[in-house]
Amino acid sequence: VSINPIHEPQSALPPTLRWVGGVEGYLELIDQTRLPVELVQIACREVDEVWEAIRALRVRGAPAIGIAAAYGVCLGVQSMIGENENAFFNRLSEAATRLASARPTAVNLSWALARMARVASALRGSAAVVQIADRLLAEARQIEAEDRQMCRAMGRHGAALLRDGQGVLTHCNAGGLATADYGTALAVLFAAHEQGTRLRVYVDETRPLLQGARLTAWELQRRGIDTTLICDSMAAQVMREGRVGAIITGADRIAANGDTANKIGTYGLAVLAAAHDIPFYVAAPSSTFDLAIETGDQIPIEVRDSREITHGFGRQVAPDGIHVYNPAFDVTPARLIKAIICEHGIIEPVTYQHISQMLANRRR
Ligand code: MRU
Repeated sequence: VSINPIHEPQSALPPTLRWVGGVEGYLELIDQTRLPVELVQIACREVDEVWEAIRALRVRGAPAIGIAAAYGVCLGVQSMIGENENAFFNRLSEAATRLASARPTAVNLSWALARMARVASALRGSAAVVQIADRLLAEARQIEAEDRQMCRAMGRHGAALLRDGQGVLTHCNAGGLATADYGTALAVLFAAHEQGTRLRVYVDETRPLLQGARLTAWELQRRGIDTTLICDSMAAQVMREGRVGAIITGADRIAANGDTANKIGTYGLAVLAAAHDIPFYVAAPSSTFDLAIETGDQIPIEVRDSREITHGFGRQVAPDGIHVYNPAFDVTPARLIKAIICEHGIIEPVTYQHISQMLANRRR
């Protein structure tokens, strides 16, 4: 399906991703590499197609990657429904290992896969493989449904942090496209806007893949929010001019002490925020916390292809043979983060203790 994304009303837009049909169904997702010029949906019917969609950022953003991977497991076991239990579980584990290798930084990916593996293991020996396949699909749908609820809750909690007339800066895309719906950092802006808080949102274009320019600017504009696009390198000047009263981003993985990995450039913004005495907020659901690691030093940082920098969007912009370093994420130390907004509320100050207290009521 291809529709013009600029002129369609919000209600006419398809979801970021959805499962079509029953256990024999498939995963349909918006190909985010084509936005904002074209809105194209693609169908994934094989594990490798989901792997490729995640790797190539057709589906991206920590929560959306986790949901896609969960559905990827359902695709993986489809051909095993008539087989014996061992064959079914071997295939399940192969699919999960493959999907986990697509991208390393966002913990939502391994979190969702572990959750899928747990529900299947719990039924091993006591249910037919067809029932286990059913249960896996129900779990993937549940992961998606919970994400929708968590995004709305983050919006509710976070909106109270913003004041009428305030300028807000965001980076990368933590919107509806990065989640099942509504977003994390953008959920806060959407909810404030829906409550009548007037915002002026500055969007970093987010080099090298321009998630800010292509996706966030598009999402905000469609919702009628006053949006201004800037190059990443303009953020310091925008802050110095007093245009920004708060910065809010999403997260790909948050360590037990609050150190937060997010799109490359986020750490720099947090340093700038401290220098200008501007509060720096992170919005992330509990599925983005990795309490198994103590600090951000242990977060694996994805390094991507140098061609994203030398040949971005089809044109060579650097000399042949140049050395390139292209880390896709950075880690912002907890001390630079004023508060983390999660579905349970506001974590402030950002310390090991406050994080563990807030997440103690997390269900899984
Ligand atoms: O490389 P991407 O586009 O997947 O990076 C996404 C981000 O850094 C987002 O800010 C993060 O995943 C949070 S999405 C709600």
